[in-house]
This record gives sequence, C-alpha cells and structure tokens, in this order.
Amino acid sequence: MIRIGMLTSGGDCQALNAAMRGVVKCLDASGTQMEIYGFLNGYKGLINGDFKMLTPRDFSGLLTRGGTILGSSRVPFKTIHEPDEEGKDKVACMKQTYYKLQLDVLVVLGGNGSQKTANLLREEGLNIISLPKTIDNDLWGTDMTFGFQSAVDVATNAIDCIHTTADSHGRVFIVEVMGHKVGWLTLNAGIAGGADIILIPEIPYDIDKVIEAIERRATNGSRFTILAVAEGAISKEDAKLTKKEYKKKLSSYAFPSVSYEIADQIQKKTGREVRVTVPGHMQRGGVPDPYDRVFASRVGVEAGQLILNKEYGYMIAYKNREMVKVPLKEVAGKLKSLPKDASIIKEAKMLGICFGD
Ligand code: F6P
Repeated sequence: MIRIGMLTSGGDCQALNAAMRGVVKCLDASGTQMEIYGFLNGYKGLINGDFKMLTPRDFSGLLTRGGTILGSSRVPFKTIHEPDEEGKDKVACMKQTYYKLQLDVLVVLGGNGSQKTANLLREEGLNIISLPKTIDNDLWGTDMTFGFQSAVDVATNAIDCIHTTADSHGRVFIVEVMGHKVGWLTLNAGIAGGADIILIPEIPYDIDKVIEAIERRATNGSRFTILAVAEGAISKEDAKLTKKEYKKKLSSYAFPSVSYEIADQIQKKTGREVRVTVPGHMQRGGVPDPYDRVFASRVGVEAGQLILNKEYGYMIAYKNREMVKVPLKEVAGKLKSLPKDASIIKEAKMLGICFGD
C-alpha cells in the first residue's frame, strides 16, 4: 500500500488532470494498492489539512478535461519562504498534515514558485516528486512544460482570427500574449500565427523601429499589421530603469497593460487605427491539445515510476527528446529564460519578423 498526496499549485493549465491521471494509471497498471489524498486548492490544502480521498476510478475521463479536479491557488510564496513566524508556521502545518496522514510521497504539479516550495518541503525531509507545469515554459531544467503547447494553440488561434478582421478594416492589431516575464509563448504563437512584429521581454523594443516596420508594410501594399506582444514586453527606455523604478511606473500607468501603451504610441505617431486584443486566461483554459495529452501522460508515468522505485526529490523533465529526472534542488528558484541569441529568434528575423530592436 502506498499513500500518495497530490496537489496542483499556481496558475492552472490545460493538462493538469491528464498528468495526474498518468501517475495513477501507471501505478494502477502495475497492480499497486494506493490511497490517494488530493489536497484542495494547492498548498492551501496541505497547510489546512483540506483534502479529498480519491480512487483510481476518479481519474477516468480526465485526459481531455482542462483545469484541475483538485483546484489550485497561489499561496503568496513570501508567506511560506520568509524565515519569519508566519512562514515557519505554514511549513510546520504542511509537515504536520503530511506526517499525520502518514504519506509515503507528495506529488506536486506546479510552475516556478510551486517547485521552490516543493524543494523547501524536500529540505524539510518530505518525500517529494514534482511535475513541470506552466503555460509560460519558463521552468528551469526542462525543455518543455505541459500546458505550453495548448496555450500556443489558443494564442495562435487568436492571431489567426485577428488576421481577417485586421485585413477587412485595414487596422494595426496588437494581440497580447501571456507568459509572465518570458517570451516563449509569444514567440511561438507569433511565428505560428504569422505575426509581423513580435515583442518579447528578452528583446526590449524601440517604438520607432516598430513604427518603421508598420510603415514599411503599408508602403509594400499590406493593409494591416499584426503585433504579438508579450504581457511582459518592455521598451528600451524602461529596460534601463531599476526594478523599483519600473514597478513604480507600472503602478502609475494610465493603461491596463503595456500593449495599450504601445497601441497609444502607434496611433498618435502614425494616425493609424490600432486595436488591442487580449485573449488572457483563455490561454490557460479549455481542453489540452494532443501534444500536451501525450506529454502530460508521459510525465505522469515517469513520476509513477519514481514512486514505485522510491526515488524522491526529483522533478520530471524533458531534455533532448527524453524524459529525465532533475534534482529538485537544481530546479528551485531558477527561471528558464529565452536566450536572445536562440536560433528560433534568428530564424524568425529571417522570416522578416520585426522584434523592434
Ligand atoms: O504563469 C501562468 C500565467 O498565466 C502567466 O502567463 C500570467 O502572467 C499569470 O499566470 C496570470 O496569473 P493570474 O491567473 O494569477 O492572474
């Protein structure tokens, strides 16, 4: 009998259920008897001892179901990782729940912050196995995270739809893409959707270069221009500010996000009609695409194998087309940023895509 705790933490994404199903199916297929404790709403459930008992049957029919059957939340990581009383108290509560339920292992499905907490619990002596989740694809130690490809599909579809209306009206359109502080999602959706201009945090933009690219297209006979702009895109001037100064600027912003500021500048400087479309959380919703169903099933199975082998303290990762295990201590607290000189960026530039640099 294995007693397994499971939780999904941080922003949700499309293949969380598929990944949990993979873990349980793998163990079930090996004839393992298990008690599954599904903690509700991420680490909150572990802190408060809030869980539901699950059986392998509960994981049937989950392959295509978006969201998470366990619920998720963002526990403010500061309140866990600060060495103050509140932080210590939360960690103590999590340990207490784990030991009270006599868990053999806790399986954590999460992105950057959640992996950091998973590692903290590992340091505290808990048996942890984690799975790489995020639409942002910014987890260190893995080439791919589940949720990413499905989000690329949604964002690409948004850009596809915008093409026809942008053409009809002869407008400049900005599609704002999620991705937090990295540009993986915007870059991939931008290329897949045929965006003319892609602005990502890794390459601070010069608004005049962006405008030049729009005017060049108009001169060459294009009725419209589409920009894929990462929610974390930043101008060359703003990139010179300190973090504190930039935060202050953002908080005094007249615009809901950087895309609207860019739109305003383009409109004022060119006199062209500009519109902004924000697919927002749609990018995290709906069914996982086939790639993510396969990918999440595979990471689930690999986690199941680690559980069977009693190998703890690892995150399942995808490296050089192989599933591997990466020590959690190496993953925690690191971000996988998109290298400015990545070949995909060079290739995108060779397609004629402007990055505003
Ligand atoms: O990390 C996933 C993500 O969707 C980011 O792309 C985005 O910046 C953030 O989460 C949005 O978070 P929330 O759902 O808390 O608004």
